[in-house]
Amino acid sequence: MTRVLSGIQPSGAMHLGNYFGAIKNFVREQDHADAFYCVVDLHALTQNIDPESLRKASLDLMAIYLASGLDPERCTLFLQSHVAEHTQLAWLLECTASMGELRRMTQFKDKGGDQEGTRVGLFTYPVLMAADIVLYDVDRVPVGDDQRQHLELTRDLAQRFNHRFGDVFVIPEASIPSVGARVMDLQEPTRKMSKSVSSPLGTVNMLDDPSDIERKIKKAVTDTDGELRYDPETKPGLATLLSLLAACERVSPATIAQRYERYGDLKKDVAAALIAELAPIQQRYEEFRNDPAALEAMMAVGAQKARSVAARTYQRAADAIGLAPPVSH
Ligand code: TYM
Repeated sequence: MTRVLSGIQPSGAMHLGNYFGAIKNFVREQDHADAFYCVVDLHALTQNIDPESLRKASLDLMAIYLASGLDPERCTLFLQSHVAEHTQLAWLLECTASMGELRRMTQFKDKGGDQEGTRVGLFTYPVLMAADIVLYDVDRVPVGDDQRQHLELTRDLAQRFNHRFGDVFVIPEASIPSVGARVMDLQEPTRKMSKSVSSPLGTVNMLDDPSDIERKIKKAVTDTDGELRYDPETKPGLATLLSLLAACERVSPATIAQRYERYGDLKKDVAAALIAELAPIQQRYEEFRNDPAALEAMMAVGAQKARSVAARTYQRAADAIGLAPPVSH
């Protein structure tokens, strides 16, 4: 059976980019593949964190996973830091990666790059991500478009390791959705929707209430020529709205464009579709979040399942690279 794995950082509110670029596809994949999804709390350590907020954010995100429809009976849900092999394997991979290839990572450059004060963890971040993936003999990795370069690096590292030390890792492929892979900011539609953008009007969060969603869509930047067609180059604002409705309905944005003549009508339907898509998630979220003991118990089961796969792959890699096996007396 095909294996898939993906992860999301527990850093701040989940937005429509996380949902359409990743989570919605995680849910679909759980019925077609042996799926592993983690909350990558170790990756969140590369940012400024507050310990209490990080602990809470990990549970928040786990509740979002469940509320969105991920089912621990049909997939494996776990916290990255609960499986020690992630950091163990990351070290083996770091010792095969070069400074040059990590320096070329655009996300590293965007987040400050090669400065005196930059955290080393931010630099080696993509290697830990590669370890997350190859530990589980993964075929496909459902992610948004911004992770494409990280997936290329993962493939390069895995191929290089196999070439030098034998056939240890499965070479994974990125699985990027045809619609929703790059959800843009509603106020600045030439940049992607992101947790770090300062304009709160530009970002719709999964837990925003209906009146906020309506307000943000109503105020979304469009253009003044009044011509309703899908053209991300010259009409990025309109393209963003068309893509959102397209992602809800799983059709192409151009098909949606044919249905409308007025921007106002389109905006009304986009807001209504988003509210309808998110309402059941928001309702279930409260139920899951209000039972932290159940969340923790579920995560413990997930970690055990994840560990049983990860331990085997790690041992294979450790043997191949020449680490002597631990001997029990
Ligand atoms: P993160 O936490 O930044 O984002 C999680 C997922 O959401 C997608 N995404 C978007 N998709 C469409 N439009 C957007 N505006 C948008 N913003 C975010 C991302 O592409 C991602 O799929 N490095 C990863 C986390 C990670 C990981 C992994 C992913 C760590 N280990 C192993 C896959 C496999 C990250 O920072 O995602």
